[in-house]
Amino acid sequence: MNIHVIILAAGQGSRMKSALPKVLHPIAGRSMLEHVLSASESIPGTNQSTHVVIGHGADKVRERLAHVSVNWIEQTEQLGTGHAVMQAATACEGADVVLVLYGDVPMIRPNTLNALVSACGGENLALLTVDLANPSGYGRIVRDELGAILAIVEDKDATHEQKAITETNTGIMAIPGTRLHPWLNSLTNDNAQGEYYLTDIVAMAVAEGTSVVNARPGSEMEVQGVNNRAQQAQLERLLQLRNAEQLMNDGVTLMDPARLDVRGTLTCGSDVVIDINCVFEGKVVLGDGIEIGPNCHIKDALIHSGTVIKANSVIEDAVVGELCDVGPFARLRPGTKLEQKAKVGNFVETKKVVIGAGSKVNHLSYIGDAEVGSGVNIGAGTITCNYDGANKFKTTIADGAFIGSNTALVAPVSIGKDALVGAGSTVTSDVPDEHLGVARGRQRNISGWKKPVKQS
Ligand code: UD1
Ligand code: CA
Repeated sequence: MNIHVIILAAGQGSRMKSALPKVLHPIAGRSMLEHVLSASESIPGTNQSTHVVIGHGADKVRERLAHVSVNWIEQTEQLGTGHAVMQAATACEGADVVLVLYGDVPMIRPNTLNALVSACGGENLALLTVDLANPSGYGRIVRDELGAILAIVEDKDATHEQKAITETNTGIMAIPGTRLHPWLNSLTNDNAQGEYYLTDIVAMAVAEGTSVVNARPGSEMEVQGVNNRAQQAQLERLLQLRNAEQLMNDGVTLMDPARLDVRGTLTCGSDVVIDINCVFEGKVVLGDGIEIGPNCHIKDALIHSGTVIKANSVIEDAVVGELCDVGPFARLRPGTKLEQKAKVGNFVETKKVVIGAGSKVNHLSYIGDAEVGSGVNIGAGTITCNYDGANKFKTTIADGAFIGSNTALVAPVSIGKDALVGAGSTVTSDVPDEHLGVARGRQRNISGWKKPVKQS
């Protein structure tokens, strides 16, 4: 079947009170529009084209979603949902089914869309409807005595009796491709809002004998639109809870499923334990038996089995080997690679560095633009001075070296295999293998020294 998807995303979203177009606001780290796009991509259909109708902030939407392959259509004036669909209609030539979705209804599921598209089957007009305890503001589904759908009446045009109807229009519908043009051509804006209502095609279908059917969403949240920050936050929590349930089903221990945020994809091996208030962003992969302490922020990282990440650690664009020990309060910046059994402790920052197997940087250090071999011990307060204000330089520390506390390694510099650098050194030239490098003032003890006395 040839399915064309039209996503309406031209509205301003003024209640968001934001410079960012509404459909770019994120839920779980992805724009609402991207959520809708990925749901629609999962509908089986031999041939699928997607048209996105944009208006307010069109340039920003296009720019931010430059990576998606859709047909962008501009609606310069927002004259109603019918008018929005008209802008995309010529692009839907040859469609069996035209599926209309909304860029600000982000939780819609592929299963629901499948059901709607099958209900349409290229012949019937299929509406996604939902019963709401409080239907106020929504278009009402008007049925005859036998239950057949007759029309959708907008809230502002509804009579007192019609306002009591609880079955509402979600706005999402599947239209037979062959009927799209004739119906859209017959729309007028003769109504309370002076808009071209897409919903008027229902009465047209009834008048010409095309049957109007409906499907229902799996849950109310699927058809919840976002008009303000509170609704955005509500969907965010719902989606996060769904993420948490999925992870627990897959065998992950979450100390509190209500205090987990996944803004991207988190893939876990077996027996992973995640403590409270962790945020995972981008693509994060955790191996088997990993423990993540509370308040960790982990983005685009691969962490191998058996590693422990302790509280308050921040990891970005890094690879952590097996059985490593990271944190508490460690910061692994982009380009960090820890080989197996490495230890990076509290208040240590690393960047663009390989730390070899079993090596330790346990306290208060900055190690950047460096290559550290295996079995190295880096004392507290060690700094790689990698930057001269214009260029970055590299530090190399070979296997088995020992760097005494409070050492400044002024790059470019290298410390040889099994070499030792005395505490408090400022190292500006290489230390050969197995040598002791000391670069600090020699201690003098002065006898007969007199303690100062306060002048009167
Ligand atoms: C619409 C339906 C109503 C349904 C409700 C569900 C119509 C006439 N009414 O009403 O039956 O209950 O959705 O939320 O269809 N948009 C454009 N261009 C336009 C107008 C709208 O792109 O010219 C987009 C908006 O950005 C928005 C969506 O279409 O995402 C819905 O538009 P809105 O004006 O909010 O429709 P409602 O009045 O809520
Ligand atoms: Ca609306």
